[in-house]
Amino acid sequence: SILRSIKTSLVRGNQCRAFGSEAVPDRKVAVLGAAGGIGQPLALLMKLNPLVSRLSLYDIANTPGVAADVGHINTRSEVAGYMGEDQLGQALEGSDIVIIPAGVPRKPGMTRDDLFNINAGIVKNLCQAIAKYCPNALVNMISNPVNSTVPIAAEIFKKAGTYDEKKLFGVTTLDVVRAKTFYAGKAKVPVAGVNVPVVGGHAGITILPLFSQATPKANLSDEDIKALTKRTQDGGTEVVEAKAGKGSATLSMAYAGAIFADACLKGLNGVPDVVECSFVQSTITELPFFASKVRLGKNGVEEILGLGPLSDFEKEGLEALKPELLSSIEKGIKFANQ
Ligand code: NAD
Ligand code: LMR
Repeated sequence: SILRSIKTSLVRGNQCRAFGSEAVPDRKVAVLGAAGGIGQPLALLMKLNPLVSRLSLYDIANTPGVAADVGHINTRSEVAGYMGEDQLGQALEGSDIVIIPAGVPRKPGMTRDDLFNINAGIVKNLCQAIAKYCPNALVNMISNPVNSTVPIAAEIFKKAGTYDEKKLFGVTTLDVVRAKTFYAGKAKVPVAGVNVPVVGGHAGITILPLFSQATPKANLSDEDIKALTKRTQDGGTEVVEAKAGKGSATLSMAYAGAIFADACLKGLNGVPDVVECSFVQSTITELPFFASKVRLGKNGVEEILGLGPLSDFEKEGLEALKPELLSSIEKGIKFANQ
């Protein structure tokens, strides 16, 4: 039996090595805004992801320190820090995924749209560089207002002749993360097994959690569903107010960003049935961009899944969100083309 256990562990060791060094492809992930409140914990979480072989950390300031710090962690990826616009090309070259948490966050009393004037320009410049240096990368847009920054990115890529709608994602995973947490608390079920789709966009009432499709099923009252919906829609504001002027969600966002990037990596690597909600170019409603469940594959978006059956409350929410979402989308398109 000793011999058998040695043999078993040898076989296991070989399988691990085969999986570790041959079956997992090299993948470069770039984080733009890597020294920020989201960027730093996101860099940490991406350094812990065994699917990443190169981690590129870019910001306009402070990246050498972040890169040196994260780079000492004994996991697979090699870390490089890049600072300032003249190093942006190097930071991006060869990237499979570019995650963008660059830009200013909200303070109490502000809406996400109040960030437009500063962040639209930042996103525009970064996307021009992406079109030039890594036009085939999947772009994970975190910078707010997501409802406008994603259309801006699309227009910039169109102008550069590199647009592929399958490769541009607004990261709405934090809405799903919140919906799961709040639902599990109310339904008194273990959060690890909870699923809740969140559709629409990423601001206020454009965030539409579909609790009628939440699993495991729970018999919640209409009032409970209403309250859960409102808390999910106001989740960002809850954090902004609690931080009282020191920014918005960073740690939960880094977690959500890492989950979404991991799903993109798995899709690229050919793992089947990888599904996450994301704000993408879409035809499932009359709006040109819409968040819904998306199946991820080797080229990015493989399939946009439909909304599924909606409750009357959700149908009302869907109609109510359309004017605001459309106007945010149009604002982004107009900015990119002016
Ligand atoms: P932060 O101010 O802490 O960090 C932003 C970082 O971006 C800074 O390090 C800054 O130097 C950098 N930056 C500014 N201009 C840049 C440029 N041109 N190129 C590269 N980097 C640049 O802010 P934060 O808390 O990390 O938030 C970042 C953004 O993410 C905000 O717009 C915020 O609203 C958004 N956000 C989105 C979600 C979401 O769910 N999608 C969640 C939370 C925050
Ligand atoms: C969030 O949902 O936490 C982010 O969009 C940041 C914000 O401004 O609320």
